[in-house]
Amino acid sequence: MIPLKRRKVSLTVSQQNDICTFPHVSIFILERKMGTSRRAFLTRLGRSKGFLIKETYSSSITHIVSENNSGDEVQAWLDNQTGPDTSSSVHLLDIRWFTESMEAGHPVAVQDRHALQVNTKPNIDQTAMLVKTYACQRRTPLKHHNSFLTEALEILSQNAEYNDNEGRSVAFRRAASVLKALPHRVKNMEDLRSLPCLGDHSQRVIKEILEDGSSREVESTRQSDQFQAMKALTGIFGVGVRTADRWFREGLRSPDDLVRTGQQLNRAQQAGVQYYDDLQKPVTKAEADVISDIVEKAVRAVLPGAEIRLMGGFRRGKDVGHDVDFLITHPEEGKEEGLMPKITNWLEEQGLLLYEKTTRNSYLEKMDGPARAPNNMDRFERCFSIFKLQTGSETERAVRVDLVVSPYSQFAFATLGWTGSKLFERELRRWAGQEKHMSLSSHALYDSKQNLYLRAKTEEEIFAFLDLEFIPPSERNA
Ligand code: UTP
Ligand code: MN
Repeated sequence: MIPLKRRKVSLTVSQQNDICTFPHVSIFILERKMGTSRRAFLTRLGRSKGFLIKETYSSSITHIVSENNSGDEVQAWLDNQTGPDTSSSVHLLDIRWFTESMEAGHPVAVQDRHALQVNTKPNIDQTAMLVKTYACQRRTPLKHHNSFLTEALEILSQNAEYNDNEGRSVAFRRAASVLKALPHRVKNMEDLRSLPCLGDHSQRVIKEILEDGSSREVESTRQSDQFQAMKALTGIFGVGVRTADRWFREGLRSPDDLVRTGQQLNRAQQAGVQYYDDLQKPVTKAEADVISDIVEKAVRAVLPGAEIRLMGGFRRGKDVGHDVDFLITHPEEGKEEGLMPKITNWLEEQGLLLYEKTTRNSYLEKMDGPARAPNNMDRFERCFSIFKLQTGSETERAVRVDLVVSPYSQFAFATLGWTGSKLFERELRRWAGQEKHMSLSSHALYDSKQNLYLRAKTEEEIFAFLDLEFIPPSERNA
């Protein structure tokens, strides 16, 4: 280390160039890893040969020279001086360019061997520009970097849903989903500059969380009587927002209140209250696998050759879920008709069902396809059920299971429709309608320009019809 006094002196001495023969080449020598004395030496040497060497970095610099630094290190240093998003055309050079220029007595042309290699990782702003508007155009992994923000936005989305404000609910959900697709943690509002789907309200919430660690609106929503009651009441199987809201207005807050006040409940709701605690507990992947085995056994027993697929969150790679979803079909179209009652009878006989309600298949292409609103519920033969699952020699629990039977010709659409996430599905349908003049459901894809149904055997074909890059299930966690 050079004593401070001497360092100061040498700095003032070398502040200026006496003669400057090559004014178009403005050099900055990076002290990092080189040290003060070597830098001072090189500076004096360069200047004595008429090179323009600046003491401080500025935008007028054309050549940065460093020793023993990687291109990425120098780029990072440079980003720090200028901010990450200012694109600059400055040369990042190894010391070799400098020594060769000294030998030549003039700045030599920059060759590949002089230039430091920078891995052209897109910077944050470029990343942001690449985030597409529709969730079905993006890859959204299960684990991401911004749950501290997305959980907050999803509270507001859920609260809007409880207040029957669908537009607002979807807006918050879309905002959250964009943050899930980012390859980095959001650190400041600058990171959000070029992102789609972030409305004023979402931005306010994000800003507050970034600055204060939490958002007052989110926290007061989370704590509110209404939010907590609606969460508890809609958490009951068979209870939707409308019913929960009516009960809330009548002063009811929890499943216990329903029992205590002797509310009229339908059969689903009775089961929902009876198995409330079990159904609140997340279903693990291991439990889903046990249920898969049971369902396969049941289906094999009543219709050999049938195919069964685990759907919903588990197909997207989640390791817990609120239920387990299955899609069932048979390669011979027509064989699947009337299948559900046979399956449920088999399960019933084994004593595995605590509750079931089967709805018949009511889909008719002629009536349904193009004319219908795109986000209608599908009309497959479907069974909402509660399974009794053995969890130990003495213990068992209730698990929500959805079984869906699809004709083989609709299987690809059903598979796409039942994989989720819900927002991903919603965005697929919005994309189809708004961008492609098509109508997508879990049954079919209709092209309104050509006036015809587009048949598909695989999900890949459906993405292709929609002009979308194929997104695998594990990246549909929008
Ligand atoms: P789920 O509600 O089961 O969601 O619907 P999930 O993604 O599996 O999440 P958890 O872990 O259970 O909470 C699964 C998929 O089935 C579709 C939904 O769009 C979702 O993508 N679905 C559900 C329908 O198409 N129709 C329905 O009536 C219900
Ligand atoms: Mn599910």
